[in-house]
Amino acid sequence: STVIRPNTVPKLRARKGAEPIVCLTAYTAPMAQLLDPHADLLLVGDSLGMVLYGLPSTVPVTLDMMIAHGAAVARGATRALVVVDMPFGTYEESPQQAYRNAVRVLRESGASAVKLEGGAVMAETIAFLTSRGIPVMGHVGLLPQSVNASGGYAALGTADTSGWDRIIADAVAVAEAGAFLIVVEAVSEPLAVRITESIAVPTIGIGASASCDGQVLVIDDMLGMSSRTPKFVKRYAELGVAIGEAAGRYAEEVRSRQFPSEQYTYRLKGDNRPSDGD
Ligand code: KIV
Ligand code: NA
Repeated sequence: STVIRPNTVPKLRARKGAEPIVCLTAYTAPMAQLLDPHADLLLVGDSLGMVLYGLPSTVPVTLDMMIAHGAAVARGATRALVVVDMPFGTYEESPQQAYRNAVRVLRESGASAVKLEGGAVMAETIAFLTSRGIPVMGHVGLLPQSVNASGGYAALGTADTSGWDRIIADAVAVAEAGAFLIVVEAVSEPLAVRITESIAVPTIGIGASASCDGQVLVIDDMLGMSSRTPKFVKRYAELGVAIGEAAGRYAEEVRSRQFPSEQYTYRLKGDNRPSDGD
């Protein structure tokens, strides 16, 4: 159920131009517990479709998947604000559809806010939600849910300045509609600067340079657990390598009957038979 955590929506909104806002994605309770002391905001991203479920894009992700993982993260977080992505097809049709589904997300997951993709076209919906007690995080620039229309995940505003004005106008529309933070994904630094200085709420960059008011990364990417690593991902650990090595040692020890040794074995009380090998 709903808990008010120390990192509230108004506190994070007020961090514009101040100390950068630290965000990471999280999809499970144990990971939320590990990240909670370090992050201001934990985003239950619909990236979970690709990261956890092996889906080809975020398009097939459902509201029930987001609610289940949102609830797990909300149970693991005590101080970070928990925000859940609205998945494709659950908010674009009308402000009423978005409101109905966002209410389900907040009530059933215990998260404090929702995030949705899109610029000026979503402004009416963002105003509808925020004026009715549902905090909304915006998302402009590269929009992964629109991959079928865009044809890929290429960064924006890198070749020339054509297209900048539309993206800046999108960010302004989303901010003026009431979004408390805006994710800016995969844009050149000068465009990120223009977006950040054009709006009164913090920008959270992913592949959008240090000029944003905060940063977010997909947790599995930054831990070195995913094969897909775009230019903007810094791998702060190599857990994929560590998992492979651990599984390899386990397999070897099972096959050679080294595991489980005496230390990991239950005996009948009073049975003092000598251990073999341990
Ligand atoms: O789904 C996601 O993880 C996201 C962020 C990376 C911004 O939308
Ligand atoms: Na997302």
